[in-house]
Amino acid sequence: MIAARIIGHRGASSLAPENTLAAIRAAAEVGVRWVEIDARLLGDGTPVVHHDECVDRCTDGTGPLSGYDSATIGRLDAGSWYSHAFIGERIPLLAEALALVRELGLGINLELKAGDHCGARRLAEAVLGELSAAAMPRERVLVSSFEPAALTSSRAQNRGLLIGCLWSRLPARWRRRAADLGAVSVHCDWRHLTERIATAVKQAGLGLYCYTVNDPQAFLPYWGWGVDGIFTDRPQDFLGSDQAAGLE
Ligand code: G3P
Ligand code: MG
Repeated sequence: MIAARIIGHRGASSLAPENTLAAIRAAAEVGVRWVEIDARLLGDGTPVVHHDECVDRCTDGTGPLSGYDSATIGRLDAGSWYSHAFIGERIPLLAEALALVRELGLGINLELKAGDHCGARRLAEAVLGELSAAAMPRERVLVSSFEPAALTSSRAQNRGLLIGCLWSRLPARWRRRAADLGAVSVHCDWRHLTERIATAVKQAGLGLYCYTVNDPQAFLPYWGWGVDGIFTDRPQDFLGSDQAAGLE
């Protein structure tokens, strides 16, 4: 097992505002051992944890992340949009999130959100720098991205890094592309996965992780296809169930 069977998506985003320190803590509190979070760069090159290119959906601010720096990003409230109970949550710097992940003893899937080739390289360099500064144990970090350049750059900086290919639907030449990137796992949208593809991925010796799975009943057959783990907003609905028992 590369990561865990049940991975908190954006932390545990049904229990706290996504991609905040509160969401990471909430995941750990329900027994999650790995979390997935999204990484992006601010205008000054500081990596932060945020899904969207703009701050509008998940904060009280407006505009692209590139319009903020490490001083101004902390002025945004990233909790009140979700619930009054989370007023005061911030968009975490990646360094802060990694420190918390370490403190809680979790594993982390870092998804690099990069728009283009050049941005991908800058993001990978910044993220790898933070991973190194945080002294994250190798076996507890899995880096993935929809942008192949982000993975190529990441691996060039750290040959031992665990890499996951992220696709909505697996492309035609997925084996070759995964091999070229030195990937250990494939991550895909479960709604596009078929038993034939799942079997082939496992036969290729790769880990298979599906996003975003929030319905334990609907996903039951997929475990039988060899899926290793899921990204879920609702880890509390999966942990402790028969599906997850004994398989961590
Ligand atoms: O990494 C899996 C999943 O998070 C990819 O999609 O849009 O939720 O970041 P998204
Ligand atoms: Mg993600």
